[in-house]
Amino acid sequence: MSAPDLLSPSALEQARDTALAAFAAAGSLEELAAARTTCLGDRSPVAQARRSIGSLPGTEKADAGKRVNVVLQAVTAAFEARRGELEQERDARVLVEETVDVTVLPTRPVGARHPLTTIAERVADVFVAMGWEVAEGPELEHEWFNFDALNFGGDHPARELQDTLFVEPADSGLVLRTHTSPVQVRSLLDRELPVHVVCPGRVYRADALDATHSPVFAQVEGLCVDEGITMAHLRGTLDHLATAMFGPGLRTRLRPNYFPFTEPSGEVDLQCFSCRGASAEPGAPACRVCNSEGWIEWGGCGMVHPAVLRACGVDPERYTGFAFGMGLDRTLMFRHGITDIRDFYEGDQRFTLALGTEA
Ligand code: PHE
Repeated sequence: MSAPDLLSPSALEQARDTALAAFAAAGSLEELAAARTTCLGDRSPVAQARRSIGSLPGTEKADAGKRVNVVLQAVTAAFEARRGELEQERDARVLVEETVDVTVLPTRPVGARHPLTTIAERVADVFVAMGWEVAEGPELEHEWFNFDALNFGGDHPARELQDTLFVEPADSGLVLRTHTSPVQVRSLLDRELPVHVVCPGRVYRADALDATHSPVFAQVEGLCVDEGITMAHLRGTLDHLATAMFGPGLRTRLRPNYFPFTEPSGEVDLQCFSCRGASAEPGAPACRVCNSEGWIEWGGCGMVHPAVLRACGVDPERYTGFAFGMGLDRTLMFRHGITDIRDFYEGDQRFTLALGTEA
């Protein structure tokens, strides 16, 4: 079409009416956007008309320009108005569609406490009932508490990178605590004697994650320091804990071991709660829980080393004490026949729900 045809009042009116009708017919914001491209876009009749003004004789330019502007304004205004309407409709619809009825009763379980939390509390309760206190320490720990005060020599292998997660910079002196034993030191420094504390908490080691290893796991530490404390007290306390956790009649046994912070040191084994030791007898049916050993490794223990007492300002001539540390993940694993430690740390709600309310 030539410029005069495009710019004729009737052509412009027709372009306007077509645009107005298209906008009015648009039922959604998407349809409106498409109509805008057709009626106001670069190739729309109005845009073409406007571009053609340049080719008119000078005397006609002003009139044609006015006509185009009037139409443009009308079309643009119609577009804006329709957009406002459609936006309002959308907002009203969203309000209805996304309404949440806060009075509806939940039909799904809302969750449960994590099994490690539950078992830590159960262990703590056993000790609180005997008058012990629950103590805590930081997970980001100073090497002095994690190693030095616990009588680890400067060249002890636990201080090496493959076992311990050190915190940068290299001379920060900070580690992610590798056990809950630094809470022994903190408790002795913070409290008057006698001290009876139980400390559940998370600990870290530079282990790769697999079915039986996790770089983070949970322990519970116990510490008792007073005059006249002997290994018999340690033994009795461990038996009491075993009975409280697994029911009466399960025996514990101590095997010699070495820890820098206890002397003598022992490994605590618990009689297998499944076969109760029977599978170790010749000819007895096999037991999968304890591998037919009859016993399950439970943790470490011993009499607090005099060097630890001294580091905490306690006179080892007058006071003695015992300490123990158990893996809580392990305890739960053999209690419930869980074979993969990763289940504790993956946050699958089904696992938490299955185990979280009872430990
Ligand atoms: N801290 C030791 C460990 O993580 C366990 C332990 C605690 C041993 C207390 C003796 C006394 O293996």
